[in-house]
Amino acid sequence: MKIFMDTGSIKDIEALASLGIIDGVTTNPSLMAKEKGEGRDIIREICRIVQGPVSAEVVATDTEGMLREGRELAAIDPHVVVKVPFTKDGVKACHTLAREGTQVNVTLIFSATQALLAAKVGAAYVSPFIGRLDDIATDGMNLIEEIVEIFDNYEFGTEVLVASVRHPIHVVKAARLGADICTCPAAVIESMFKHPLTDLGLAKFLQDYEKAQAALTTAR
Ligand code: E4P
Repeated sequence: MKIFMDTGSIKDIEALASLGIIDGVTTNPSLMAKEKGEGRDIIREICRIVQGPVSAEVVATDTEGMLREGRELAAIDPHVVVKVPFTKDGVKACHTLAREGTQVNVTLIFSATQALLAAKVGAAYVSPFIGRLDDIATDGMNLIEEIVEIFDNYEFGTEVLVASVRHPIHVVKAARLGADICTCPAAVIESMFKHPLTDLGLAKFLQDYEKAQAALTTAR
């Protein structure tokens, strides 16, 4: 499963991308609003660092506006994936952009029918929001299971990009279900590294090594 970072923070992306574990980045207008600087410059810099798919979202709500913004975003860098919301206008814009050869991520997916329609118009990615479903007492992972099954049944090329990820268990469940990608906030990726037994185990190895070294020195 590919791991994307769900952020507009260059600092966070630089820190984790240097480890070689980041396959792409997703942004949205709320994430971009947290960053200083011009949105297009930030997207260009993220593409330079990550060298993988970077989703940049349109804010227009009509098809023509989405097409105009989408083409501008796609011109920033070949790694840009144009993100459009799942609306009728968004579906129409996705259809046109995909035919033009632009990769489109259809976002704000909350049902399997929405994912199916996005795949039919050539979306490269669909972004089901699992955390926001969990927030309203609906198991977001059931949606991932449905979409993965449907896309497998018909061999859609559309990738399932699990979004609105809140904790590492979401990542584990998404991977077990065979989702293509999980996009995670930096804090979730950081938590994927942690295990107290790793820390304790390493401390013990080092302690034993030091003891052995000290014994050797004394014996000399
Ligand atoms: C990414 O594509 C989504 O916009 C993002 O994961 C939404 O996350 P949130 O529900 O935590 O805002």
